[in-house]
Amino acid sequence: MSRITISDLAAMKKRGEKWAMLTSYEQMSASIFDQAQIPVLLVGDSAGNNFFGEENTIPVTVDELIPLTRAVVKSTSRALVVADFPFGSYESGPEQALATGIRFFKEAKAHAVKLEGGARIVAQIKSLIESGIPVMGHLGLTPQSVHALGGFKVQGRGQDGQRIKADARALQSAGVFALVLELVPQDLAREIAQELTIPVIGIGAGNGCDAQVLVWTDLMGLTPSAPKLAKAYRNLRQEMTNATKEWANDVASGQFPGPEQSFD
Ligand code: KIV
Repeated sequence: MSRITISDLAAMKKRGEKWAMLTSYEQMSASIFDQAQIPVLLVGDSAGNNFFGEENTIPVTVDELIPLTRAVVKSTSRALVVADFPFGSYESGPEQALATGIRFFKEAKAHAVKLEGGARIVAQIKSLIESGIPVMGHLGLTPQSVHALGGFKVQGRGQDGQRIKADARALQSAGVFALVLELVPQDLAREIAQELTIPVIGIGAGNGCDAQVLVWTDLMGLTPSAPKLAKAYRNLRQEMTNATKEWANDVASGQFPGPEQSFD
């Protein structure tokens, strides 16, 4: 089976076909989402607060994300795998961004990368694209700037929407193949999705976007206190707690291992 490409995503936008993107940080979830035909998997820096036990995404490093990205690429055959640039891996300029992109391409075999920010990082984006590395943009609530933004707040309300629109246009002109809009008013997101020719992927941005992304642990009900923008379709936290207790009780009562798990 051949991999989804950025041309497939562009064609889906033209056809008005909506699609779903999920984060993944390891082998099991990646192979399940690939089997479920999720076209794009993001090895997000949300690994910080969903895999590495950090408070937020800021401490995550390239060295930490490379093995996770490699695992997701190796565990999938269809999905386009996007590696997130963590904080501190591209802000210094185009050379630093290109060096980071080359590492994700050569060491992790990622198919594309994602960077947070608007007009201020256009030079970085261009240096990546010119070298053959497709780039996904990310505007609105950009979690790496959470301290500068004063918390996890909706961005682009009122006049501030014009700033986000200008950034979205700048990113499209720079050549990004898709754009994530996080935590922005739904009308603003719809207007941007209608104006841009590239797919706009929403998270907390209403249903006027071309695609939607969720952090997989939020989708499955593993995150203890998921944000309002997410919907849990299962309660895996409860399921796993129950299974763990059942097994531990069986161990304590001598019922595990049974004859099926024992050898002569
Ligand atoms: O890191 C991440 O998971 C993300 C998505 C929420 C878009 O950036």
